[in-house]
Amino acid sequence: MKSHWVVKFGGSLLSDRVARGKFLKDAAKIAKKEPLVLVHGGGPEINAALDKMGIKSSWVNGRRVTDEAAMLVVEGVLSGQVNKNLVGELNALGAKAVGLSGRDGGLLRAKPIADLGRVGEPEKADPALLKTLLAAGYLPVISSVAEGPGGALNVNADEAAAAVAMALKAGRLVFMTDVAGVLDENKKTIPVIRLKDIARLIETQTIAGGMVPKVQSCAQAIRRGVKEVHIIDGRAGLLKPVGTRILP
Ligand SMILES: Nc1ncnc2c1ncn2[C@@H]1O[C@H](COP(=O)(O)OP(=O)(O)O)[C@@H](O)[C@H]1O
Ligand SMILES: [Mg+2]
Repeated sequence: MKSHWVVKFGGSLLSDRVARGKFLKDAAKIAKKEPLVLVHGGGPEINAALDKMGIKSSWVNGRRVTDEAAMLVVEGVLSGQVNKNLVGELNALGAKAVGLSGRDGGLLRAKPIADLGRVGEPEKADPALLKTLLAAGYLPVISSVAEGPGGALNVNADEAAAAVAMALKAGRLVFMTDVAGVLDENKKTIPVIRLKDIARLIETQTIAGGMVPKVQSCAQAIRRGVKEVHIIDGRAGLLKPVGTRILP
């Protein structure tokens, strides 16, 4: 079987109509020829739903503090609304997309992070269900909700994608974001980042915010044997990648 791709894309890309259409078209095309797994977040959609319900969000180290009430909304939005709309659009493009969350088939187990409520970090991934679906030509689309003690946990979608890639022993892991890859202090794309450079880039705050879990997830995946890891400009599409490659 051909090597697997895992592609993660975030909420900012999803809310850009043009980028979204282009990306889904590319994904449907690739999935017809090669085994592809998509992992998605949905921050802006969650914000909108929580706002509507008058639930306020606070953030600790880039993670949304998620109480029980907020988790109901997070799961409904990510695994329901966002996931099923993506599946519908991909299938309209001729793919055989199947919407899943990390809770299906034991795909993603997470351990809670102290003081953040229903927030967790992936600790175990079981690729069996994905392998079955890929072998039958389906395109799995996974929301970043994992199973944890006492029910659903909200996990960072970058970490979820890395966990899925490592479990599948994927050949390629691609993070599609809303900027032209990892940028330097002059806002220019850094074409290649080595693992040994990452700590310094974070310390000097060249890399900050949502880019931190992304590069850390890249590093973890590379250490666990994923060969090709990229952070690319989602607006440029998946077929002509523009951005940063992370190397050992
Ligand atoms: N060095 C950097 N290069 C690129 N983006 C960076 C960098 N440091 C911080 N960022 C921020 O990280 C954001 C991407 O992460 P995030 O907002 O979580 O998006 P995603 O939906 O792709 O996960 C960029 O839009 C940018 O604001
Ligand atoms: Mg992010």
